[in-house]
Amino acid sequence: MYLKLDYQNIDLSKRKSEGLKALDKILSKQGLGSDFLGWTHYPENYNREELQRVLEASEKIRSESDLLVVVGIGGSYLGAKAAIDMLKPYFDKSFEIIFVGNTLSSTYTAEVLKYLENKDFSINVISKSGSTTEPAIAFRLLKKLLEEKYQDKAKDRIYITTDPKSGILRMEAESAGWTTFTVPSDIGGRYSVLTSVGLLPIACAGIDVKKMLEGAQQAVLDFTQKDLDNNLAMKYAIIRNILYEQGKKVEIFTTFEPKLRYLGEWLKQLFGESEGKDSKGLFPTSLIYSTDLHSMGQFVQDGSKIHFETFIRIEKPELDIIIPESTDDDGLNYLDGKSLNYINDKALEATVLAHNEGDVPTIILTIHEINPFIFGYLVYFFMMSCAISGYILGVNPFNQEGVEAYKNNMYALLGKKGYEKLAEKLK
Ligand code: PA5
Repeated sequence: MYLKLDYQNIDLSKRKSEGLKALDKILSKQGLGSDFLGWTHYPENYNREELQRVLEASEKIRSESDLLVVVGIGGSYLGAKAAIDMLKPYFDKSFEIIFVGNTLSSTYTAEVLKYLENKDFSINVISKSGSTTEPAIAFRLLKKLLEEKYQDKAKDRIYITTDPKSGILRMEAESAGWTTFTVPSDIGGRYSVLTSVGLLPIACAGIDVKKMLEGAQQAVLDFTQKDLDNNLAMKYAIIRNILYEQGKKVEIFTTFEPKLRYLGEWLKQLFGESEGKDSKGLFPTSLIYSTDLHSMGQFVQDGSKIHFETFIRIEKPELDIIIPESTDDDGLNYLDGKSLNYINDKALEATVLAHNEGDVPTIILTIHEINPFIFGYLVYFFMMSCAISGYILGVNPFNQEGVEAYKNNMYALLGKKGYEKLAEKLK
């Protein structure tokens, strides 16, 4: 058992058939957006030759660069960032991975370019469509810097991950001779962390991506089971929908381990972009406890009753510390000899009890420890839960049409060809 699911006072039996129906639609590819279900069996069916090339490229990048710059936004970077933050030691600077093209901040982008001036670096541009504005701008700037630094050798430091056939980036890469990897056509950005999108940056960080895929393979076996009692992804999807229907419109993902901060960001994107449509869907957000108990804790406990919490609990920390005995009168002697993780876990227990008391339902997902296998297992669990949950909700969990609205306005305001009429209207 790699994952444990605890919840209180929710009867799933009446919703069993909905869960099974949703899973059936996914496995038989009969539901909305079924062209984007490539991720369901990808951990078993992935292209072995491509993985080998990813591993070779990561070796090459690590040997000839001080750092890798990952250019991408949304699903094209959040999974890798989540894995690296979760699985690397906090202060490990042995091989740096930095992320750009996920913001239009001129200050951040300028500071990155300055930081890179005296470093040897390679870049991995990740964009399925190949035309997203944020990474495209960052790529243009980085390409210029690479060409100034390495002249005709610059092209050996550019790695592109994009659609196998279509898009401007694919065309550009092929004509320039850059090394390319693929985002399978039937896998959308937020479901792509286990493809080359996530695997190349994660492998460059020195993390065992084969173990990650093994974890995901185990998850395929566990979460495609057509059996509610044994399929935690289906159970969790049903619980979320029951709470949503009870008026809990916000799901707060919480953890007592700050290394999971970006897992929270990845979850926000996965669930927010998959379910927030047709005027429906839970609003996903994330908090890090106990830190945020001293900021948002008041609201969670005592504010408007719009939310429930999903705790991600880690049983065994990577490291632990014993609180030393002390003769000082600092009011802490009741903690002498206890481990810091024991105290952290008691803080979690205390929080769950207090929040339940304050009418905040809680779900606890417990993993034994954090490692690459568990990361693969966990992300697959969430992707399957999200797909099942989206189908129960009655939306297409694989499109994101709502994202286009701001883009079109931005193109019009910036004077892009073809957007003249909209520009007039906006003025
Ligand atoms: O999940 C998604 O599909 C999106 O968040 C995309 O990943 C994001 O918009 C980036 O798109 P692209 O990879 O085409 O640049």
